[in-house]
Amino acid sequence: MSDNCPVLDHTNLNSSHPLRISREGGWRTTVGFIRNAFDSLEDMPKRADMILTRLFGVPTVVLAHPSLISQVLTDTKGVWIKDRMTRRATDVFGEGLLLSEGDIWKRQRKILNPGFSSVRFDAYASVMRERTAVAVANWPDQGRIDVAAEMARLTLDVAVRTLFGADITERNARRVSESFSAVSDFFASPLNMLPFSIPKWLPLPLIQRYVRAVAELDSVINELISMRRCKTQSGEDLLSMLLSSRDESGGFSDREVRDQAVTFLLAGHETTALGLTFALFELGRRPDLRARLFAEVDAADLEVGIESLPFTTQVIKESLRLYPPAYALSRENTCDVTLGGLLIKKGSVVVASPWALHRDARWHANPLEFRPERWTPEYEKTLPSGAYFPFGMGARKCIGSRFAMIEAVLLLTGIARRFDWNSIDKHLPPLQPTLTCRPTKPVWVAVQERNS
Ligand code: HEM
Repeated sequence: MSDNCPVLDHTNLNSSHPLRISREGGWRTTVGFIRNAFDSLEDMPKRADMILTRLFGVPTVVLAHPSLISQVLTDTKGVWIKDRMTRRATDVFGEGLLLSEGDIWKRQRKILNPGFSSVRFDAYASVMRERTAVAVANWPDQGRIDVAAEMARLTLDVAVRTLFGADITERNARRVSESFSAVSDFFASPLNMLPFSIPKWLPLPLIQRYVRAVAELDSVINELISMRRCKTQSGEDLLSMLLSSRDESGGFSDREVRDQAVTFLLAGHETTALGLTFALFELGRRPDLRARLFAEVDAADLEVGIESLPFTTQVIKESLRLYPPAYALSRENTCDVTLGGLLIKKGSVVVASPWALHRDARWHANPLEFRPERWTPEYEKTLPSGAYFPFGMGARKCIGSRFAMIEAVLLLTGIARRFDWNSIDKHLPPLQPTLTCRPTKPVWVAVQERNS
């Protein structure tokens, strides 16, 4: 082990429950992953707490115990960085907050944190309420809605207005949505899982569509930045903050402004849209839960904030448990370390999957059932750290987690105040294992205006 490497070890596991460690042939894990990544992840904690394997030829350790996950994600010594597969997304996100490391990341997070301080949330919340009202006003009194597309449109609208202080035109919304689909298709492809990065000049349709999508996203972002620059008054939004910090020494360069802007545009809408889509789908199968939701939202004083909406908040927490949009987080170690009593060689890839942990019956009883009421304060208090982490953990925890919770609760409230709905299909369409877990087909619900 190199001299400057800290020894990380597993110290807080109850010794009466020794870690179950398994070594698996790479073919088994890789084939299982290609067949159905989500079933494969869900199955892992049943087999072991730590699985040493090769995924797509890369030495990989899958962590399926909260204590191990907590140890890796809360590391403060700089041992674990984003892994090489995740880093390939720099084509899209550049060196924005999601992918930067070390001192660059620290500086960026310090500058960006005030954009997510609680003083800003009142202004954000009123935009969220207003845009939901505008969106549902366009729904038919009675008819079919693809909630996946509808939620993506609404959260994009909210993100652009709150974070960029701008409006998004129909055309630009379509460009972002189509480009993000192309980027997602590219990252879901087994081609992208190969141990080496595929040259972008290869004349394969999947690659060329991806290259065009990245250019298209750049062009939308540049338009949003120019629109913000044209406004005489600097606003309170994140983009104004990015642009003004650029002028101070140590602020953001033009390239960094672009990278942060694209990071926030994409990370700031797609995940929340998915959390809402899954919540709407599950609620659409359960009249009992909808009745409880309607009673709460009808009585709530929305000016008070989401504290007056405990059940709606439980619904969102449960949706993010059963279907965590960021279903797998990966890291790579910068030096040899000991984890779970084993030496993990420098450059190994470690996978911590919310999907796997959130569906593990050891931590969540009846894990496949959608039960919002499980989210009592006692439940949360007794959950081991690392058993529920839809927003990640430690220093790299999602900077937008509070924003996202407020947004999801307020959007769901705005919808439920005006509409009732039923899910048309019994099951969700297959999910695509890409940067997030997106439905591959529309998620239809039949809506009906409540007071009509
Ligand atoms: C339900 C919605 C959301 C989910 C499930 C989610 C999930 C996550 C997760 C799991 C991470 C950590 C990734 C890792 O450790 O590798 C993360 C990071 C991040 N998220 Fe979110 N996110 C959500 C909403 C948002 C929103 C609304 C924003 C912006 C407004 C945002 C911006 C970011 C950024 C910039 C990072 C990188 C933070 C850093 O490394 O310092 N996210 N998110």
